[in-house]
Amino acid sequence: MDDALIQARNLSRSYRNGREQITVLHGLSLELRQGEAVAVIGPSGSGKSTLLNLLNGLIPPDSGELQVFGRRRSTLTERDWAELRRTRIATLFQDGNLIPTLTVSRNIAFRAGLAGLSQHDGEALLEHLAIADTAHRYPDQISGGQRQRAALACAFVMQPDVMLADEPTGSLDYATAQRVAPLFFDAIRERGLAALIVTHNPELARRCDRILELRQGALRPWDSARSF
Ligand SMILES: Nc1ncnc2c1ncn2[C@@H]1O[C@H](COP(=O)(O)OP(=O)(O)OP(=O)(O)O)[C@@H](O)[C@H]1O
Ligand SMILES: [Mg+2]
Repeated sequence: MDDALIQARNLSRSYRNGREQITVLHGLSLELRQGEAVAVIGPSGSGKSTLLNLLNGLIPPDSGELQVFGRRRSTLTERDWAELRRTRIATLFQDGNLIPTLTVSRNIAFRAGLAGLSQHDGEALLEHLAIADTAHRYPDQISGGQRQRAALACAFVMQPDVMLADEPTGSLDYATAQRVAPLFFDAIRERGLAALIVTHNPELARRCDRILELRQGALRPWDSARSF
C-alpha cells in the first residue's frame, strides 16, 4: 500500500548468546498506515520489543525488507535514522526514557527542542495526564507510574508521525491504567498518529483498529472473540 508509513516484509532477526543463536522473528510482515492504531500482543520473550527496535532503526534485521515513510531501509544512513527518531518516530520504551539529570518539564522541553520545535504543549499534556505537580521534580523523585506518564508526555510533545509504544501502561496500577489508557488513546487519535502499541491492557487494545498477535516469530490477526 502506498499510504503505509511503515511497511515490513518478511523480516527476520536473531540474537547470538555465546554459541547459541536464537531466532526471534522470522517471516514477519506488517503495514502501518497513517492514522491507524494497531495493538501487538504476545507472550514475554516473543519478540515485541525487538520488533519495535527494528522499526525505529535501533537494530537491523538479518533479512527482509523495511520501508519507513516510503524510504527503503537500505537507503537510510545511521544519521537518517537518528533524524527520524528525533522528529518523526517516537518510541516509548518499556523502561522509561527520561533523562535523570533534568526535571520533568526540562525533559519535555529538551525533547521538543530535539525535534526542532520552538513551542510545545508540554504543560497541557502534563495536566491531561494528571501529573502537572511533577513538572519541577527529577525522574527519581516521582513514582514509576508518574515516570511512565512523563515519558508519554515527552513522546507526544515531539509531534511525531508514528508512535511506537512498548507497554505504555505497563507500570501503572489498574485504576491509573484505566484512567491513562483513554487519555493516551485520545492523544493518538487527536493528532492522527499512526501507532503500534505493545500492550496487554484490554482497555488499550480494544480501542485499536486492529489487534495482532506475535507468535512464533510472525504477526497474525488476533481473534477478537478470544479473551485476553
Ligand atoms: N540483546 C539481546 N541479546 C540476546 N538475546 C536477546 C536480546 N534482546 C532480546 N533477546 C532475546 O530475544 C527474545 C525476544 O526478546 P524481546 O525483548 O523482544 O521480547 P518481548 O516480547 O518484548 O518480551 P517482554 O514481554 O518480556 O518484554 C527473548 O528470548 C530475549 O531473551
Ligand atoms: Mg519487551
